[in-house]
Amino acid sequence: MKLKNLQLVNYRNYDKLYIEFNDRINLLLGSNGQGKTNIAESIYLLAFGKSFRTNRDRELIKFNTENLYVGGGYEKNGRNGMVEIAISKAKKGIKVNKIPIVKLAELLGNINVVIFSPEDLRLVKDGPKIRRSFIDREISQIVPGYYGLLTGYNKILANRNKLLKNMNPDLNLLDVYDESLADYGSKIFMFRKKFIERIAEISKDMHARLTDNKEDLNVIYKSQIQINDESSVKDKFINILKDKRKHDLDMRISGYGIHKDDILIQINGLDVRLYGSQGQQRTASISLKLSEIELINREVGEYPLLILDDVFSELDEKRQKLLVDNLKDVQMFITTAEYLHKNVLDMNNTTVFYIDNGKVVKTENGGN
Ligand SMILES: Nc1ncnc2c1ncn2[C@@H]1O[C@H](COP(=O)(O)OP(=O)(O)O)[C@@H](O)[C@H]1O
Ligand SMILES: [Mg+2]
Repeated sequence: MKLKNLQLVNYRNYDKLYIEFNDRINLLLGSNGQGKTNIAESIYLLAFGKSFRTNRDRELIKFNTENLYVGGGYEKNGRNGMVEIAISKAKKGIKVNKIPIVKLAELLGNINVVIFSPEDLRLVKDGPKIRRSFIDREISQIVPGYYGLLTGYNKILANRNKLLKNMNPDLNLLDVYDESLADYGSKIFMFRKKFIERIAEISKDMHARLTDNKEDLNVIYKSQIQINDESSVKDKFINILKDKRKHDLDMRISGYGIHKDDILIQINGLDVRLYGSQGQQRTASISLKLSEIELINREVGEYPLLILDDVFSELDEKRQKLLVDNLKDVQMFITTAEYLHKNVLDMNNTTVFYIDNGKVVKTENGGN
C-alpha cells in the first residue's frame, strides 16, 4: 500500500503541513529536534490511533493550541482511502473514509505500518516485553479481533491482581477471573502460536539470505502454556492457574499466563540473546522486522508502509543496502540527520524533505 499524502494541523511542532509522498522512498532529513520523528509519529498515529512515543494524546497537540488534526490519504488494493484523526484536550475522534469509528479496532488494519527504530535493533537483546509488543502489534494488524482480546485479557489480569492484593481474597471471585483469563488467554495463545510459526518460517529464509547461508535462524514460541492440541488450551490454562494459585496468593500477583510469553531466538542452535555477538543480534532483529513486513504482505495482499526512524545511521552501509534492496516494493519513510551512503539510495525514486523547525523548507524530487 502507499500513503499518498499527509496533512497536519497543530501537530507537535507543526502548525500546518501538507505533503505528498513518493511511492517508494521518502527521506526526512534535518538536524535534531526539527520535527522528523514527529512526521513519522503522525503516520504511525494514522495506523494505530496512538503514538509510539507516548500514551498521552494531549502531548501531540501543539503547545498553546487546543486541538490537532492529522489526515492521510492512501491507496490500498487498488482503492483510495482516508484516515483522519482529531484530538482535543477532552476527546479524540477518528474517521475512516469520512465515517466516524466507535472502537479503535475499526481503525486497525486500514493503514498497515511497520516501524523500525533503534529500539527494534534491541528486539533480540532486550527483555521479553519488547518481543511481546512486537508480536501483538503485528497480529493486531492482521487479525481484526485480536486487539479486543488483548484489552479483555489485560483488564481481567488487572482485576485479578487487585484481588490478590487483598488480605483475604474472595476465592469464588478468583475462580471467575481464572475462567475469564483462561478464555481470553487461550485465544491469544493460539493466535500467537500461529503467528510465531509463520514468522519463524519466513525469518529463517530471510536470515539465511542476509548471512549468505552462514547462519540458521530459529524462532520458537516460549509460553508457560505449552500445548499443541487446540481444543484443550483453555483447560490447560485453567489447570495452570489452579496449580499455581498458592504461589499467586503468596506473591499477591498473577505470575502465570500469556503475559509472561516470550520468543526464543537461536542462531545455529544457540540462544542469540545470551550467546550472540552484537552484530548477530542486530542482523537477527533485521530478519525479524523484514519477516514482519513479508507476513503482512502475505496476509493483507499489500506491503505495509515502513517507517525507519533514526535507524539508518545505526547500520553500516552493507546492512543499509540490504534493507533497501530487500524491500523493492515497499514505501519507506526514513528519518535521518545525515545523508545516507551514496550508493544505498536510488535518487530516481526518492523524495527528500528538508525539515527545519516544524516546516518542510525544501523538497527534492528525484525522478517523479
Ligand atoms: N506538543 C508540542 N508542541 C510543540 N512542539 C513540540 C511538541 N512536542 C514536541 N515538540 C517539539 O518537536 C521537536 C522534536 O521533534 P522530533 O520530530 O522528535 O525531532 P527530530 O527531527 O529530532 O526527530 C522538539 O523541538 C520539541 O520541542
Ligand atoms: Mg527523531
